[in-house]
Amino acid sequence: MSPTSDVLLTVRGIDKIFPGVRALSGIDVDLRAGEVHALVGENGAGKSTLTRIIAGLETPNAGSMTLDGAAHRPTSRREAEAQGVRMVMQELNLISSLTVAENIFIDRLPSRLGFIDYATLNEKAKEAAGRVGLANVDPSLPVGSLGVGQQQMVEIAMGLSRRCRVLVLDEPTASLTDSEVTLLFAQIRRLQAEGVGVIYISHRIEEVLAIADRVTVLRDGCVVATRQAGDLKPDDVIYLMVGRDLEQEELAPRSARGDLALRAVSLSDGDKVRDVSFEAYRGEILGVAGLMGSGRTETMRLIFGADPLEAGQLYLHGEQTPATIRTPREAVRRGIALLTEDRKEQGLLLSLPVRANVSLTHLAEVSTLGWVDVPRERSVARNYVESLAIRCASCEQTVGNLSGGNQQKVVIAKWLFRDCDILIFDEPTRGIDVGAKFEIYRMLADLAEKGKAILFVSSDLKELMAICNRIMVLSAGRVAGTFARPDWSEETIMAAAFSEYISGESSGNGIG
Ligand SMILES: Nc1ncnc2c1ncn2[C@@H]1O[C@H](COP(=O)(O)OP(=O)(O)OP(=O)(O)O)[C@@H](O)[C@H]1O
Ligand SMILES: [Mg+2]
Repeated sequence: MSPTSDVLLTVRGIDKIFPGVRALSGIDVDLRAGEVHALVGENGAGKSTLTRIIAGLETPNAGSMTLDGAAHRPTSRREAEAQGVRMVMQELNLISSLTVAENIFIDRLPSRLGFIDYATLNEKAKEAAGRVGLANVDPSLPVGSLGVGQQQMVEIAMGLSRRCRVLVLDEPTASLTDSEVTLLFAQIRRLQAEGVGVIYISHRIEEVLAIADRVTVLRDGCVVATRQAGDLKPDDVIYLMVGRDLEQEELAPRSARGDLALRAVSLSDGDKVRDVSFEAYRGEILGVAGLMGSGRTETMRLIFGADPLEAGQLYLHGEQTPATIRTPREAVRRGIALLTEDRKEQGLLLSLPVRANVSLTHLAEVSTLGWVDVPRERSVARNYVESLAIRCASCEQTVGNLSGGNQQKVVIAKWLFRDCDILIFDEPTRGIDVGAKFEIYRMLADLAEKGKAILFVSSDLKELMAICNRIMVLSAGRVAGTFARPDWSEETIMAAAFSEYISGESSGNGIG
């Protein structure tokens, strides 16, 4: 096999300039047939922009591309798709009111005598969904009724169900569990064997090294290196991405544990949350671990008044009488903030500037006599842009134009500004690059040291073990154990996470 004969796509000298931002400069990349080529880089490095150009969603300011030796200059997504170039985008693009089946086959609904043939549609959808492990999902359900991870699998099923030569997956696994990732990888291998070229974007470095043949690292809109994945170790990739080694310091807050901030007693919600009791203190980060579906998010939603409490009580700030929190609004008023994993649901107003989004939850703080004081709002926003290293042209930039990870940082800024005493973070580092993750860890530790109580839900056990003082483990809706630093190990925590799923055991406590 000669090195150039199997080149499918070439990208040469691509520049992309947005108002005030140079997103890409002189990008050169090749994609071979049957290759998985990973793109990695910090938030805002230009990964999505580059692939959006390849998939016809943006046009470059300079440079050229070829597909199978012929000029590739798509001016729309449709045009690129007609040539076999498809992209599964970073942000979900499903229409939540349509069914799973309608979403998958939206542009080619089978019809008979002018009517949509639902029997055929649902059957084909079932098959497409089955390939990505969604065999148990009823294709006639509205997509909006599925969880984020499942929606993402539907989106992937949609990409995989069509013939293509080049498939771009932009952070496909950000909200997937390990078993879903395994299924996705099997599908990628299948496409690879068919000679499809796959461009794979992810912040999960170990995953990238497992699936990719080659890795291209972008930094500030430039290619830093393209290497064989087999020649790289995770630390090498991080070094190429951020231009320095990340120090492995102890990150957990060092402050002494303060007053009791929150006491949950026997919280229950059907079989999702069963008799959950725990305490959270000021000055500490309490991690919440568990498998997907173990009730972590559901428990947090109960505390935040987002779902009704079926049974149980919440005591706030050491009070003797239980608090009544029926809505998120009441929760915020009582000093509880919940940062969820779904950016869209978080209520970022994508068409407004960064500045306005930061102050959204706390307009009173930047207003005088009912008028928003723009210079004040701007200075508040600038502080957060700086302290969280949000990459934007200025705080006047529209949030919808920021890279995915930087949008996530704006969500964090928004809640920090609200200044609640009990901060619940549900997967806050999803889609955030390695360097910025450490900035967020440091910020959480800092908040705890300033006397906040922090609840931190994460699927990444290493992350929890790096920054938490204690970790509570949920298993099938119950507290399966609470571990305190340094008396824990990955094995003991995982054993607790699985404990309720192992048949015959249902004791479900062991709080220690
Ligand atoms: N439509 C747009 N208008 C203005 N600036 C934009 C637009 N789209 C992207 N940018 C900017 O271009 C740069 C590259 O963004 P891009 O989304 O490609 O980053 P990314 O590498 O995909 O990051 P992430 O890991 O956060 O998804 C960022 O600075 C971003 O703010
Ligand atoms: Mg991106």
